[in-house]
Amino acid sequence: MKYMTTAEIRESFLHYFEEKGCLRMPSSSLIPDDPSLLLTSAGMVQFKPYFLQQKQLDPAYIGTTTVQKCVRTNDIDIIGTTGRHLSFFEMLGNFSFGAYFKKEMCAWALDYSVNVLGLDKDRLYFTVFVDDDETIEIWKSLGVPEDHISRLGEEDNFWRAGPTGPCGPCSELYYDQGEEFGCGKPTCGPGCDCDRYLEYWNCVFTQYDGQEDGTLVPLPKKNIDTGMGLERIAAILQGVQSNYETDVLRSLVAVGERLSSISYGSDPKADLSLRIIADHSRSITFMISDGILPSNEGRGYVLRHLLRRAVMKAQIIGIHGTFLNDYVDEIVRLMGHVYPEIVENRELARRVILSEEERFGKTLKNGQAYLEEALAELEGDVLSGEVAFTLHDTYGFPIEVTREIAEERGVGIDSEGFLRLMEEQRERARQANTKDTEAAWSTYGGIHAQLRAELGATRFYGYDTTAGEATVTAIVRDGERVENVVAGEVAEVILDATPFYGEMGGEIGDTGLFESTNMRAYVLDTQLPEAGLYAHSVRVEEGEITVGDTIHVAVDAHRRASIERNHTATHILHASLRKVLGDHVRQAGSYVGPDRLRFDFTHFEAMTPEQIDEVERIANNVIMEATPTTIYETSLSEARSNGVTALFGEKYGERVRVVAAGEFSQELCGGCHVRNTSEIGFVKIISESSVGANLRRIEAVTSYGALSYINKVEAELKETAAELRVPIFDVSERTAANLKTLKEIQTKSKRLKEAVSDDGVNALLGMVQDAKAGYPVIITSTDIRDMSGFRNSWDIIRARMDRPGAVVLASVQDGKPVLFAAGTDEAVAAGFNAGAIVKAIAYAIGGGGGGKPTMAQAGGKNAAGIDEALEKAREILL
Ligand code: ALA
Repeated sequence: MKYMTTAEIRESFLHYFEEKGCLRMPSSSLIPDDPSLLLTSAGMVQFKPYFLQQKQLDPAYIGTTTVQKCVRTNDIDIIGTTGRHLSFFEMLGNFSFGAYFKKEMCAWALDYSVNVLGLDKDRLYFTVFVDDDETIEIWKSLGVPEDHISRLGEEDNFWRAGPTGPCGPCSELYYDQGEEFGCGKPTCGPGCDCDRYLEYWNCVFTQYDGQEDGTLVPLPKKNIDTGMGLERIAAILQGVQSNYETDVLRSLVAVGERLSSISYGSDPKADLSLRIIADHSRSITFMISDGILPSNEGRGYVLRHLLRRAVMKAQIIGIHGTFLNDYVDEIVRLMGHVYPEIVENRELARRVILSEEERFGKTLKNGQAYLEEALAELEGDVLSGEVAFTLHDTYGFPIEVTREIAEERGVGIDSEGFLRLMEEQRERARQANTKDTEAAWSTYGGIHAQLRAELGATRFYGYDTTAGEATVTAIVRDGERVENVVAGEVAEVILDATPFYGEMGGEIGDTGLFESTNMRAYVLDTQLPEAGLYAHSVRVEEGEITVGDTIHVAVDAHRRASIERNHTATHILHASLRKVLGDHVRQAGSYVGPDRLRFDFTHFEAMTPEQIDEVERIANNVIMEATPTTIYETSLSEARSNGVTALFGEKYGERVRVVAAGEFSQELCGGCHVRNTSEIGFVKIISESSVGANLRRIEAVTSYGALSYINKVEAELKETAAELRVPIFDVSERTAANLKTLKEIQTKSKRLKEAVSDDGVNALLGMVQDAKAGYPVIITSTDIRDMSGFRNSWDIIRARMDRPGAVVLASVQDGKPVLFAAGTDEAVAAGFNAGAIVKAIAYAIGGGGGGKPTMAQAGGKNAAGIDEALEKAREILL
């Protein structure tokens, strides 16, 4: 056995099977192209269509070989507690779709293990499915001693990716690490839970297609699906006892060592944290790079859970704040050469992680405070189930983390109480769901389900035609079936066939007109209360509609055309968003009406104005290139393999409808669309906003809607330009200039206000004295701050004096004394002279000044002389 790095093993495996005639293919995304799986958990996932003969491999190759990134979280709680389990791992695999089978596979597995990896043949053990004599014979013929082969049952040696799909019996290769690793039990052998026999390679003989009812339908060909755990084989070849000590993972453990200043191996508790963060950080980085964003359901929840768990584990070893980006960088450095997507999406991963860490950090703080309080108030040594439940429910603390923190204080948790509350919550949720359904039934009394069963599906022919003849098959008024509906009444009308589109997939229902010789009715809306059942909400204007009538029906074609433009524009915007922001953008909801469209999508931050412009520009290019749209039906698997965009979580039938705008956009969709993108005219994004964590919304208008939007904007602009008296293209410049002026004025006015508050003026007016010459005068020190303050004060004071008078005021501005004197013309006529007064008293403040008889000022150095100056003024004037 020789030491090999993880990179060397990876390459040697792929090379070995390439030499045998297999096509080396890239790892597929962690988001499987398969609605039955949440995440890609094995190398065979991308090859399901080949096993099922839906896709054919180029006959130049005998099979394929890959290294597949995988995420498995079914055993998340034991990750880190053993050296073998990982949430993220790499699986080396080779796959045959009918070309080679057991004999070749077993021979190569042994050859590769012994002659390439250099494993000691005596240490290899083999398990086979209990009745698989053929494989036993093959191993024996390859020189494997009988006592190194054992038979195991379905649980160990029959492999399935999920409840249904390709599966089959398997044979597994084990490496005996030595007696010292064993449990010592007499039953110990391959398949035992202890660490002695390490399973490193699983060879599945994929012969069946598992059905929903559990039956196994033989596949047309006999296939091979193998999986070797790269980290496990690396541990064997590197002579270490756990995956975490192999080269790649050890480097990640080292990141934690650096951040926490704790050495791996010094404390079992800390080791657990170091291992868990090393493992989870890989899942997190790879998941985000494949377009998964944190959320509260599905894959997004798995991601969020892993991230939160990593953050909580970090706390235990004293790593606080945001830190996961250090791991991202190291992962990119270690694995970027194999998985270019993590290099390309590094910034995305860093930003998403940072924002999620920050968000969780806040919750965590509150949760910890809550837990601390509960622990402080605790009587006894068991934390109640309620506290654990609140921590879980409100603060997002996984129970085992609460347990860990509590245990550190020597406190246990009432797990039963916790589980009971969890169960009660589930029950409440279940009841809430049932109630909703009950409500729906009681409103409709099941009438639509009955109608659907009785009448069958309505034939919809409205994609290309908007008018026709139809027969009325049922009428529902106030939840009851009736025979007819007369003028003035509103009812739901069901037809045998209709061109009216019923609201579905974000596109709103059609409106229009029903007519016959004596009848006219408006269709206000069209809905599908049951799959396939089109109900027209109708208000009868004239005459009556009776079941059995043949009537003329016509969709409001003008409105419909607008809806079609908006719908195709929605698809184009979707594809443009993915181009500009990345493949993590996925539709989360939409509204397509005649006036505007709304599109909700996953993205982790606000779009910049430049990104919005870019999306708009790309979308308008597609529109102006006058790309014809094509609409066709195909099988779901065909559509998927052609890269058609499907919505997550949406259930599709086997036959699907694809709407394509050239090469640019291809989506599964049942809606109404233009025939050529040029019909859209142009598209204008009018808003971009947040509608939840990692969810953004854009609103846009097209064609006439866009025109009227632009016209409105232009009208506003023209009006503003007219008010400002500038051409419209100068509006912003002028506005900026005006704002600047306004700001200056505001600052000034603020200072003035400070200079003469109402109270200040009142106080001054209270100090009026009579001058010798008979006019009123105020002589005092104030806290007015500057000259303009004095002037302004004087304006106000003179306006409010009973008789025209004068002032002599003093203050200290920036540590320097100032004097201010002013008088009305009447006071001056009576002998007051501001300039003379200031001159006469300024000596006291060690300065000088002067001015006109009506207004004068002086500055000085000696603030302490203010009182003397004012005293002098009083002497002169009073
Ligand atoms: N698909 C098989 C596994 O995952 C090889 O074990």
